[in-house]
Amino acid sequence: MKLTQAILPVAGLGTRFLPWTKSVPKELLPLGNEPIIAHIVDECMDAGITDICFVISKGKESIPQYFYEDPALEAELARRGKSHLLEALKRYKNVNFHTVYQDEQLGDGHAILQAKDWVKSDAIAVLFGDDLFHGAESGLVQLRNAYEHTNGNGAVIALENIPRELTKKYGIAEISDEDTGSPALKKIISMVEKPEPENAPSTLGIVGRYIIPRSTFDVLPKVESGHSGEIRLIDALIMQLKTGMPVYGCECTGKRIDTGTPEGYKDAFKLFS
Ligand code: UTP
Repeated sequence: MKLTQAILPVAGLGTRFLPWTKSVPKELLPLGNEPIIAHIVDECMDAGITDICFVISKGKESIPQYFYEDPALEAELARRGKSHLLEALKRYKNVNFHTVYQDEQLGDGHAILQAKDWVKSDAIAVLFGDDLFHGAESGLVQLRNAYEHTNGNGAVIALENIPRELTKKYGIAEISDEDTGSPALKKIISMVEKPEPENAPSTLGIVGRYIIPRSTFDVLPKVESGHSGEIRLIDALIMQLKTGMPVYGCECTGKRIDTGTPEGYKDAFKLFS
């Protein structure tokens, strides 16, 4: 099954970047010559995605605007003979962008649900707006390659081996050693949200890249908000795993950086400069 659609939930408040995020979405902070979100859109394009849906909140319209065509600006650049700048602006011309709103920040799962009516394919990529991968192959390409070894009716999530003392910050997956046909693809037996290190079934943390089946959109409305008061995508996948849907993990190679914290952003800035 060809993966062509991706949802990018970027409606969060970005409280860890306040007061900056009062006026500038953290997704537009620069990394090299591009904002963070452009690196994520590049990752989608690299993996063959042609349809991207941003889930934004009011005031974050500058995120989709970055990618929309601007005929007046293009005409002016052409008039001034700035062909190299025109090329850069036209690089998104083969991607269809769409935007939906999340009116209340009720969690990443709730954000994704706002894109339900836009979804046309049976498998959809989800990329959180603050996790970046730096390496020979992007996180989504690795996930897509692993997904090709499944029969297409389950989910694949990105995993990272994390230090045991950090399990309380992540969803943690327990995997089986069943042969899946690909060394990168592991069958998940169970997932637990933010366990204490002594209770964690493994040190495989769930990070911000997913390929989910369309059926997840029927389950998300049934998810009750957890202890954080948020509706989380991971809770929908835990429900689906319990009812027999296969969920796989893919331990991605390369360096993952959480640009959602000032410290993580500083690391990313050095890496991408
Ligand atoms: P985070 O947990 O990093 O939340 O969300 P946040 O609001 O961006 O940042 P902090 O924690 O307040 O500093 C992970 C991803 O899910 C999106 C965020 O935009 C981010 O890409 N998200 C989160 C939503 O789109 N809506 C939500 O209600 C929550």
